[in-house]
Amino acid sequence: MKIAIMGAMPEEIEPILKKIGTYSTTKYALNNYYEGRYAGHDIVVAYSKIGKVFSTLTAASMIEKFKAELLLFSGVAGGINPSLKIGDLIVANALCQHDLDITAFGHPHGFVPEGSQFINAEKELIAIANDVASDMNIKLQEGIIATGDQFVHSQERKDWISATFNADALEMEGTSVAVVCEALQVPFLILRAISDTADMDASFNFDEFLESSAQESATFIMKMVEKIGN
Ligand code: ADE
Repeated sequence: MKIAIMGAMPEEIEPILKKIGTYSTTKYALNNYYEGRYAGHDIVVAYSKIGKVFSTLTAASMIEKFKAELLLFSGVAGGINPSLKIGDLIVANALCQHDLDITAFGHPHGFVPEGSQFINAEKELIAIANDVASDMNIKLQEGIIATGDQFVHSQERKDWISATFNADALEMEGTSVAVVCEALQVPFLILRAISDTADMDASFNFDEFLESSAQESATFIMKMVEKIGN
């Protein structure tokens, strides 16, 4: 099976490329796509750059151009649920766009006509993630991930996202990737390790913990690849 592994930033895919070892590089649509083999699978790896627009382009390219049949996202997130500490892992069971707003027309936040406020994730892949977590003897939280084109660094915005979407964590790419995968009927999983708690210390903590949290997420994703059947 051909598996796409995607991040948003170089730090999120570097540990993955290191683990794959040997790969070829293809330039496409102003980005680099790395192809190699791991655990009996063909793999395509890329980082999209930050945000919903770039991540949409990369996810669609991985599926349409590089023929990925399954997509795994690995990266970092800001924690909302107080049970999530820096370095903890969360897998999305539903995702939403916190900055999508046509409430002026009576719609709920995150909703546009012919879309849905939440995208549900794949239960089968979450089950594999839970198996990996128990093999590794680590905690994996399932929850709602809210996506938006904002680095959230205020208690007020964080509280609003929590109250509006009951979200557990927030980041800047998961829902756009989920929208692409749902539309193109490719199973997906969005995994994040917490780098900060989206409050006034967020930018400081993000800089400090980006690399170590990205590594946590990448290690877990590669264990998942080892578990996924050919
Ligand atoms: N990714 C990691 N931390 C984040 C934050 N505070 N806001 C948005 N995306 C993030």
